[in-house]
Amino acid sequence: MTFEAAFEKLKTYGQEHVLKYYDSLSDSEKSSLLEQIDSTDFSVISCLERKGELGKKGTISPLPAMQIEEIEAQKEHFRKTGLEAIKAGKVGAVLLAGGMGTRLGSDDPKGMYNIGITREVFIFQRLIDNLMEVVKEAGTWIPLYVMTSDKNHLATTSFLKEKEYFGYHPDYVFFFQQEMAPATDYQGKIFLEKPYKMSTSPNGNGGWFISMDRAGILDHVHESGVEWLNVFAVDNVLQRIADPVFVGATIEKNVEVGSKVVKKNAPDEKVGVMCLEDGRPSIVEYYELTDELMNAKDENGDPAYYFGVILNYLFKVSALEEIMAKQLPLHVVEKKIPYLDEQGEEQKPDTPNGYKFEQLVLDMIHELNSCLPFEVVRNREFAPIKNKTGVDSVESARRLCEENGIVL
Ligand code: UTP
Repeated sequence: MTFEAAFEKLKTYGQEHVLKYYDSLSDSEKSSLLEQIDSTDFSVISCLERKGELGKKGTISPLPAMQIEEIEAQKEHFRKTGLEAIKAGKVGAVLLAGGMGTRLGSDDPKGMYNIGITREVFIFQRLIDNLMEVVKEAGTWIPLYVMTSDKNHLATTSFLKEKEYFGYHPDYVFFFQQEMAPATDYQGKIFLEKPYKMSTSPNGNGGWFISMDRAGILDHVHESGVEWLNVFAVDNVLQRIADPVFVGATIEKNVEVGSKVVKKNAPDEKVGVMCLEDGRPSIVEYYELTDELMNAKDENGDPAYYFGVILNYLFKVSALEEIMAKQLPLHVVEKKIPYLDEQGEEQKPDTPNGYKFEQLVLDMIHELNSCLPFEVVRNREFAPIKNKTGVDSVESARRLCEENGIVL
């Protein structure tokens, strides 16, 4: 892209300041900045104009979950169906590891965090150990697709290689990178991270399927006959991956997606809850839950919006392909964004200073026709690590690991 074309593109979005240092850059820096301007989608920023309207929900009603008692009664039947699918190579796992993990505050990718006490136990290792249990039970390797971002790809791939994938077969581990989006100040002006680089951040976990396709990984999914993808977050160190009972129940119920859920521990717990929105499956985020919904009861007198999602979904690949062309809503998130100040000095703020733009995997659910919320025992399968201490932290996850007999 030429300087003139870059200038025109930026002007359309009111972002000409991005070329502020252009004249002082070296030739390679100039071309790297022009290339970045060329490949960046600035249109995401225009959603700031509609910020107040973003995330408006339709009419919410309850979506009953398959609860533990019902699952227990049919467990062996579901397990058999699930194991058959896994043995036939129909199930793949997708690890969403492109996030920045800013709340944890480590410079390394979150999966490299060591939660061990008497020995090293890395988050990636915990996840792979869990997946290995199913690999052993099924007697077959499950393809593990790992999504990274520009910010952590090299560190993630080198770490896993150095650790020999914690015993996973390297032929079954595939990496792909997600897209990035520009990050702005509160006025919607893109920050510069370097004189020759705009600040960008991963564009949320909702673009995983598109990114998988762009990277050519979807071809592998087709060639190897994978029909179901179990998408999961990097931070839940207790979660079961490619859990045969969950796989079996989702197949048996003939739905387009299964979603693992837990009973909320308080009506105002900060997890999204499964529901129907205008008659279609959906998730209401905790900050969208009105008092009325929070206190609503079902016919048994239980809370009507009782089941929180834990970011562990089993998607039917053919259903995802049908919704691929649909645009997911954009979420504007306040975050701490490193930037160059007026003097050209690099700053690393301690508090949020601007916006990132993200699409979220939970919005994919609403595009699909049917969903099975599948309850799991909270203390056995839900130990997310978002923070260093307090709620959903390294500390709370360690306690839960110990409770489940995992030596740390
Ligand atoms: P979180 O919502 O916890 O975000 O991600 P985060 O960026 O990791 O952490 P904070 O908010 O900065 O502290 C939930 C899951 O989605 C993945 C994360 O890696 C995690 O597994 N994710 C998030 C992506 O893969 N890409 C993204 O752009 C965002």
